[in-house]
Amino acid sequence: MSEANTTDQVEDLQSKALRELKVASDTEQLEAWRVAFLGRRGELTQVLRGLGSLPAEERRAAGAAANAARVALEQGLEDREQQIKQADAAAGMAGEAIDVTLPGWPVPRGGLHPTTRIVRDICNSFASMGFSVVEGPEVEWDTYNFEKLNIPKGHPARDMWATLWVDHTDEDGDHPMLMRTHTSPMQARVMEKSDPPVRVVVPGRCYRYEATDPTHEWHFYQVEGLAVDRGITLADLKGTLYEFARRIFGAERKVRFRCDYFPFVEPGVDMSIDCFLCDGKGCRVCADTGWIEIMGAGMVHPKVLEGVGYDPNIYTGFAFGMGPERVALLKYGIEDIRLFYANDLRFLRQFA
Ligand code: DAH
Repeated sequence: MSEANTTDQVEDLQSKALRELKVASDTEQLEAWRVAFLGRRGELTQVLRGLGSLPAEERRAAGAAANAARVALEQGLEDREQQIKQADAAAGMAGEAIDVTLPGWPVPRGGLHPTTRIVRDICNSFASMGFSVVEGPEVEWDTYNFEKLNIPKGHPARDMWATLWVDHTDEDGDHPMLMRTHTSPMQARVMEKSDPPVRVVVPGRCYRYEATDPTHEWHFYQVEGLAVDRGITLADLKGTLYEFARRIFGAERKVRFRCDYFPFVEPGVDMSIDCFLCDGKGCRVCADTGWIEIMGAGMVHPKVLEGVGYDPNIYTGFAFGMGPERVALLKYGIEDIRLFYANDLRFLRQFA
């Protein structure tokens, strides 16, 4: 092998290798290329090994060319590796980039809780009869929850409301605090703040220290109602509540009024609707009575009016307090009131 031959051969090899390097496009191909030219049995390595057998005069030039070729190939490999890495990174970013032409993810729409729906339905039905909607505190003074409602301390009527007391009293120490057992305290709060005529409904949460069953919860909503003016009678009460029942349940539903006792009304009544499940025959939902009681009502007691500074000789009024979850039981055919606050989405989604 002549000097010129070996040197030419090395140069040819170098340009062939660099040409092939240009088309290697991933790490695997780069590695194959490295093995083919620079590996232990690679073409250039063979040439370098063969240098020893060349005559001394040829060896120099051929050796220099071969070393230069090795440096060029190693440098070429490094550069190509770098290029491929950058291209991969750019492609990766392109993969993550947002394609604005794709359809978006559907945004799941929430729904209103069945209690919220029924409370709104109830309030709307009264609003259209001229009542305004107000709200009040869930943590209440004994004074408003009981005393101003004609339920003095120590009176047995207090047993009607199993009360959750709050460990707090006012400065005098004789007005305990509690979780309101009903929305009726708002009757006094509203009348203290305004002169008659009054026409309000008060939706809100109430709390009782009570065992639960299909129609009782320890925490529930009420919608209180109050109408006070000159000349209001029990006929107004019945007319208003019949109209409410017609709007919420439809005209076919049976409504029953019975005498009942509540310390803050005289006379007092309760209103029931025929059971949706057994059509009045008696079942576990209606406790075998055929009826489901949805509210207490009555003519505001003169003592309550006096207590807030209204003259009972001039003004009369009616009040009512209903359980919206019970209204929902009847309206939607739900068999257990405890489902409302068990947070089972399979139940709640049916109302969304
Ligand atoms: N507050 C009563 C309760 O929780 C319900 C009630 C009865 C409210 C008669 C009234 C009413 O306004 O007149 O049991």
